[in-house]
Amino acid sequence: MNKIINKEHFSEKVFKLEIEAPLIARSRKAGHFVIVRVGEKGERMPLTIAGADLNKGTITLVVQEVGLSSTKLCNLEVGEYITDVVGPLGQATHIENFGTVVCAGGGVGIAPLLPIVQALKAAGNKVITVLAGRTKELIILEKEMRESSDEVIIMTDDGSYGNKGVVTVGVEEVLLREKVDKCFTIGPAVMMKFVSLLTKKYEVPTEASLNTIMVDGTGMCGACRVTVGGKTKFVCVDGPEFDAHQVDFDGMIKRMSAFKDAEKEEIKKLGS
Ligand code: FES
Repeated sequence: MNKIINKEHFSEKVFKLEIEAPLIARSRKAGHFVIVRVGEKGERMPLTIAGADLNKGTITLVVQEVGLSSTKLCNLEVGEYITDVVGPLGQATHIENFGTVVCAGGGVGIAPLLPIVQALKAAGNKVITVLAGRTKELIILEKEMRESSDEVIIMTDDGSYGNKGVVTVGVEEVLLREKVDKCFTIGPAVMMKFVSLLTKKYEVPTEASLNTIMVDGTGMCGACRVTVGGKTKFVCVDGPEFDAHQVDFDGMIKRMSAFKDAEKEEIKKLGS
């Protein structure tokens, strides 16, 4: 059982949760994730660790209410307990001094991008961060991103903040103006697909952090499988980051949408 120490409301459906997990706080690195379960029969939900406080023994997770399990998690209050938090899982992000790096984050994907931006900056990279959301409210962690980035470009679909347009518009602006050595992208699968297509055109090596469905998190169940470079990979043990130019995003998006109807039904029951 892991206690919720702090809860912050980022926007209508996005919450930042600080959770007691001292062992995970000590061993986590950028890119690692945890699997969280609310209730004994709850679905296992993968969430990338957005930060950790070693002194307090806590980790930070940013959760968006998008389905049944995330809604249950977001409904928990400070002082209540999460049934279990398992991790850190997955492979840590490969960090080195690449040179100039563009980090493109969309929506709630901005949260797991933060530790990567911080680690890249600490390794001596020039870091240009592009943050995108549908509206101003969905641009989160801007202050923290500015502290660790050489430049931050904000994109909103409706133009309510920063520049009007999707994330790829901001990324291309950078690619047209200077040499970029590496790109990292985290966000909705469709967004990462288009960032990947763009950086492929400009021949910039790109890592995408995949957010598939997960069950056991140990490479045994196959729920998180994706096709990368024509081979089957498991996001939980081989990822979550992969060479974006090799990922079959269309296959991944199709698999992820397979459970949508069943989930909508369960959410209705939760609200009734
Ligand atoms: Fe089961 Fe990855 S979650 S194999």
